[in-house]
Amino acid sequence: MRTREIDATAVQTLLAAAVAAPSIHNTQPWRFGLDADTRTVEFRAVAGRRLPMTDPDLRARHISVGAAVFNLRVAAAHLGWRPVVRLLPAADDPDLLATVHLAGGGEDGPPSLRPLYEAVERRHSSRMPFTGRPVPEAIVTEMITAAHTQGARLEVPDIVRTSRLLRLTQAGEVRTPPTPAARQRRTAGSPPQDSTPGTASPSPRWEPWTRPAGYRCGTSPVSYLCRTFLPCTSNATRR
Ligand SMILES: Cc1cc2nc3c(=O)[nH]c(=O)nc-3n(C[C@H](O)[C@H](O)[C@H](O)COP(=O)(O)O)c2cc1C
Repeated sequence: MRTREIDATAVQTLLAAAVAAPSIHNTQPWRFGLDADTRTVEFRAVAGRRLPMTDPDLRARHISVGAAVFNLRVAAAHLGWRPVVRLLPAADDPDLLATVHLAGGGEDGPPSLRPLYEAVERRHSSRMPFTGRPVPEAIVTEMITAAHTQGARLEVPDIVRTSRLLRLTQAGEVRTPPTPAARQRRTAGSPPQDSTPGTASPSPRWEPWTRPAGYRCGTSPVSYLCRTFLPCTSNATRR
């Protein structure tokens, strides 16, 4: 589907893709603006969706908004535009995280982005337990290459670094004092969530992790995580 006009349908397509992006704790910390004259979409951070405990440096918020920018680029390419991104374009306006100018129009969008459009709606975070089945090497390589194409670096830690990362994560969690609200929730037996005002709904990912009965962890680095951190249910198989 190609369009030269930024009409209501095009705006709907662009923003529907942007808001389908993953975000930390599903906070959806973005707001959009459109300057139709310059064909520019603005991405703004929403101050009220900060997670001071989980994300004090706003790193995860930036990754979340970056994911929304990426999805909008994919939709723009699908519509036949060439998205031109500027990150933090205004020094005096730090909440303006990015702008995407929709260049061209009517031709084919960038071929590296166009084929991804169909996946935007289908993508979701998996809450399933790890199976221990290794990700095929070819897919890992493809993911590393895809990240590189976008100017990012995807690192896949080996077993030694995985173990170190897990130890650091665990130590960090032990050293992070729970908020009074989190302490209260824990006492009451509810899953912990960072306090997020607004419409963000709690993510189900914080349900207590246990291995289902008969579940086999396998031997990959992910399996190490499984064996080390997922408490055994009574019938779980430890390998
Ligand atoms: C920066 C960032 C960090 C995230 N961290 C986790 C995580 O540690 N565990 C997890 O299960 N999901 C994590 N998520 C996924 C979000 O919880 C998920 O995107 C959100 O709940 C919306 O669900 P969806 O991805 O299915 O649309 C993260 C997402 C982002 C963008």
